[in-house]
Parts: sequence; structure tokens; C-alpha cells
Amino acid sequence: MSAERSHEANLPLITLVAGARPNFMKIAPIARALDATEAVRYEIVHTGQHYDSSMSDVFFEQLRIPQPSHHLEARSGTHAEQTARVMVGFEKYCDRARPDLVIVVGDVNSTLACSIVAKKMSIPVGHVEAGLRSGDMTMPEEVNRIVTDAISDYFFVTEPSGVENLLKEGKPQDTIHFVGHVMIDNLYFQLKSIASHPSDDNPASRLKKQLGRYAVMTLHRPSNVDDPATLVRLINAFNRVAENIPIIFPAHPRTRQNIDKLGVHLDSSLYMLEPLAFNEFLSVWKDAVFVVTDSGGLQEETTALGVPCITVRENTERPVTVTNGTNRLVGTETEKIIEACEAALVGDKTNYEPPELWDGKAAERIVEILSKIIKFELR
Ligand code: UD1
Repeated sequence: MSAERSHEANLPLITLVAGARPNFMKIAPIARALDATEAVRYEIVHTGQHYDSSMSDVFFEQLRIPQPSHHLEARSGTHAEQTARVMVGFEKYCDRARPDLVIVVGDVNSTLACSIVAKKMSIPVGHVEAGLRSGDMTMPEEVNRIVTDAISDYFFVTEPSGVENLLKEGKPQDTIHFVGHVMIDNLYFQLKSIASHPSDDNPASRLKKQLGRYAVMTLHRPSNVDDPATLVRLINAFNRVAENIPIIFPAHPRTRQNIDKLGVHLDSSLYMLEPLAFNEFLSVWKDAVFVVTDSGGLQEETTALGVPCITVRENTERPVTVTNGTNRLVGTETEKIIEACEAALVGDKTNYEPPELWDGKAAERIVEILSKIIKFELR
């Protein structure tokens, strides 16, 4: 947003909240779509839930969105501590800035915290990626989704299951907007960017070149990495998979901390790296033979690009990735994981169709709807 526009206080103000790594790529396309209209202002508030440079700053640089105008510096802690710090900081921000609408994305603690604050200050809340349900109340994200949707005013939905869930929960039809997926908008945008500016000068790209054929793995869910027995079982399973195909494993800080703490042995073909910036990671996984993950977003991104995905969870809040996409839920039992990886190695590809409206235009649809809600002219 231009500096002049940020000072035109008579224009409506939309606040985009981002807190943790998967939020940054979701607000990027919305920021870009808002940039294209001159009749509205927006501000990005970074709650500071993720704060390491590799988990935060580097995303803002690569996603080509303005640096956040406000930092709440919430950082880590227990769920209550982190949520409370975000709430206190965001309340002060809202008090000063008085946004006309707050947009929260996804299902992290910052999503929950900021939606509650805005709603209690009578500021309308739009939830992007609304309506997803895993049915698993042991996941902190499921609690975050349910609470955020319980109080949001406008729902921007990525897949048909989200619409069904919100209708079942009694949301009025005219508040539910099936718009596609902003994270897939960002994926296409970044694919173009890496095609026009390929960068081989980083450890992940060098490893990719050296290995040629490889799998990619990410693991960070508390249920998989915080319980020592589960983490050891999973790593042992991946050590066995790595005997047949090398695995590139950019590790979330919490996962690395737990692996180090437990002294878990990693096979020499299981390459643990630091967290990667978006484009470096995309350059690697898009050409992987398969991806193994417990991430929500990666289940969707692999589906969008047709890369086989093996999800080490018992459930998914993103069922379209299984019904239409390349995702396979295998749980966390060793033999099931190994069997799925072996099947993926010999090209266990199913016919798949890209999910409806995952066409790179979700953010434009959202901005068009916002222009009707808070009344601004689209250019
Ligand atoms: C959070 C989200 C999860 C999302 C994930 C993506 C919640 C409840 N969870 O999980 O939905 O999939 O982000 O990464 O909001 N840490 C660092 N540096 C950082 C951030 C975290 O070292 O910049 C370490 C800290 O030890 C921290 C731990 O990671 O305690 C967990 O961070 P936290 O934000 O609480 O949850 P995530 O596991 O990242």
C-alpha cells in the first residue's frame, strides 16, 4: 500500500492478522488484491507468534508484501500465555487503529485471539479458511477453528466441506462465501516467481541437485513430535524409508528441539535442515517423488500441484485433498507409513482433479465481497 494511502484516514481500514508461518502466505494474496484498489486502506498486524527469522521475516521478503505495520511480540509460551499476550496487544492496536473489519486466517492461536478481541470491540470479523473441521478436539487448531467460526461474521471457505460444516452449525447462508484458496493463489504466484528467478544458491537446492530423486518430509504437530514414543517411532519408520529413497527434512524448531533432546538417531539419508523460506521449500518439494507431512497446508499445496502426499495423521480437516487430490491419510503406525511410501515410490498415482476454484483467484473474490460489505469501489 502506498505511503500516501496509509494516511488517508477517511478510507475504510481493513486489518490483516498474521501470526505464524502458515498465515503469512495466506495474507499475501489478499494484500496484493487490496493493493489493486485505491478506495480502501489495509494494515498488517504481526502478532509475533512465530519470531525466528527463518519462521517469519524471510517470508515477508519473499512473499513481496509490505512489512507489518504493527508487531505485537507475543512469542512462545503455553497456549494461555501466548493467546493472552496476543489478545492484550491486539486490543491496544484495535483501540488505536479502529479498523472497519478484521481479517483472520487459518487456525493458529493468533487467529483465535484476534477474532475474540475484535468481536468484543464490535469490529466485524472475516475468517479466511473457515469451516474446516477435523472432528479431533485434541488438536489445538480444531478448538481455534470452532471458536473463531462461532464468533466470525463472514466466512471465506476453501472447499465444499467447509460450507457444509458451517451450514450444519447454523451459519446464515449469505455469510458463507466459497471463494477457493488464498494459499493456492500464493502457490501459483510463487511458482511464477521461482521460474523467472531460479535460485540455486542455497543448501536445499544444492542437496536437491546432488540427490536427484528424493522425498520431502515435514513434521511438527504436537501429537507427533511432543510425545517421545511417537516421535521415536516415526523417525524410526522414516529411517527405514530413507534406505530406499533419500529424504529432505526441513525441521520446525519444536521438532528439532525434541529430536535433539531425545538423542534420536537419524539415518544418513534422512537430511535434517533448518526451516526453509517459502520459495526454497517449494523448489524442493514440487519435484519430490512424494511428500510426507503432518502439515495442513502442505496437504493442499501438494494436491494443487499433483505431488503424492502421505499424511501422518488419523484425520484431516481438508477432505477434498483425499477425495479429489493426491493425499493419503496413513496415521502413525510404522508398517502403514512404510507401505504407503513404498507404493508412492513405484508411482501409486491415482486420477485426480484439482479442487473447485483452486485457480489462483480466491483473493480477488474475497476483495470483491469485502467491497460490498464495507462499501468501497473496486478499481
Ligand atoms: C503453530 C500453530 C500450528 C501451525 C504451526 C506452523 C497453534 C496452536 N499452532 O504451531 O497450527 O501448523 O504453527 O508452524 O497456533 N518456536 C521457535 N521459533 C519460532 C516459533 C516457535 O523456536 O519462531 C518454537 C518454540 O519452542 C515454541 C514452539 O516452537 O514453543 C512452538 O511454537 P508455537 O507457535 O507455539 O506452535 P507451532 O508448533 O509452531
